[in-house]
Amino acid sequence: MRNFKNILVTGGAGFIGSNFIRWLLSNPGFSGRVVNFDVLTYAGNPESLDDVAAAAGKRYAFVKGDITDRAAVEKAFTEFDVDAVVHFAAESHVDRSIHGPETFVRTNVMGTFTLLDVARNAWKGREGVLFHHVSTDEVFGSLGETGKFTETTPYDPRSPYSASKASSDHLVMAYSHTYGLPVTMTNCSNNYGPFQFPEKLIPVMILNMLEGKSLPVYGDGRNVRDWLYVEDHNAAVWAVMTKGRLGETYNIGGENEWENLRLVNRLVELVAEESGRNVESLRSLIAFVKDRPGHDRRYAIDCSKLKRELGWTQSVDFDEGLRRTVRWYLDNPRWIERVRSGEYRTWMERNYSER
Ligand code: NAD
Ligand code: TYD
Repeated sequence: MRNFKNILVTGGAGFIGSNFIRWLLSNPGFSGRVVNFDVLTYAGNPESLDDVAAAAGKRYAFVKGDITDRAAVEKAFTEFDVDAVVHFAAESHVDRSIHGPETFVRTNVMGTFTLLDVARNAWKGREGVLFHHVSTDEVFGSLGETGKFTETTPYDPRSPYSASKASSDHLVMAYSHTYGLPVTMTNCSNNYGPFQFPEKLIPVMILNMLEGKSLPVYGDGRNVRDWLYVEDHNAAVWAVMTKGRLGETYNIGGENEWENLRLVNRLVELVAEESGRNVESLRSLIAFVKDRPGHDRRYAIDCSKLKRELGWTQSVDFDEGLRRTVRWYLDNPRWIERVRSGEYRTWMERNYSER
């Protein structure tokens, strides 16, 4: 079992990163310090961790920095004596990557390269260090009606987002093979839960229902995603970091496939139950809109390697996780207001007016 003292979490002000930090600092198996390194793009909100920061005292530090800025990354490594990196920072929204791919290449490819290269230099000859890279199932492309992605499925990314994540995955493995950098990697399916930025399917639908706006379903609504509660993702990442084989990649999935339209209909029922709104009025908001260009049809993950080797399994039932998520958005209007300031409205108008 690996043990770390100072973990640099990149992208810790975003959806999964902030949930990971919250989870890790309350995990009895970890007594070290977390350094949250985040440049705070539109998707980053340090307020997501205000309560955690206050409770953790010296066990938590925030550094506002860009992963493509080598000097800033080097400074963080030295100042905090970093012995592990968990790399979440990325541009993460497929629709945005279609409109503006360049920042995806900059952050996801150049940013990952910069982190790897700084780690290689900083950790020369040092034992007990680890670079964990967080990636996505989208690097494997799109499935037909049957089959699942395994760790050996050939890469076939089809959006600028997934292509940039695929490039970063290749760099991580190249640093392992060429320089012997101790790395582990995970490719996960779609996450959901509290603190997800309201441009992704589930929070878009919940917030639009609360505001009586239409529920934009892309194409025929028959695209399939495999959903996993964010805490289960975090537990899997930690299992791989502490017990996974070096140089290996592990798939993480929910084994929980849903067509988008079916999921939106289930959300309609849950939001009605939790908010007291009329279920049929909410359902009448569903609107089919123009499809996403190159829209991947189906993702499904085979996570048997992770289960077999490390004993991980999903723990949150989908209905229960969705209900918790709906309640969280109902209970956190201030957080929602904060993340929707800035360029949010302009982006949403642009994305949806074209459909
Ligand atoms: P997110 O968009 O919510 O958060 C990304 C965070 O990274 C933000 O806090 C942002 O400020 C920060 N960031 C962006 N560019 C940066 C830069 N140049 N320097 C420093 N920080 C920067 O993303 P998320 O949904 O939490 O995803 C986190 C990671 O998990 C990503 O690598 C993503 O590819 C991967 N992933 C996400 C999902 C999902 O369903 N959301 C599924 C599988 C894998
Ligand atoms: P998204 O949350 O963007 O994740 P990803 O594209 O990375 O899987 O989208 C999930 C699915 O929902 C995807 O098939 C696209 C679809 N979708 C809609 O139908 N309407 C929407 O408003 C959004 C944001 C997504």
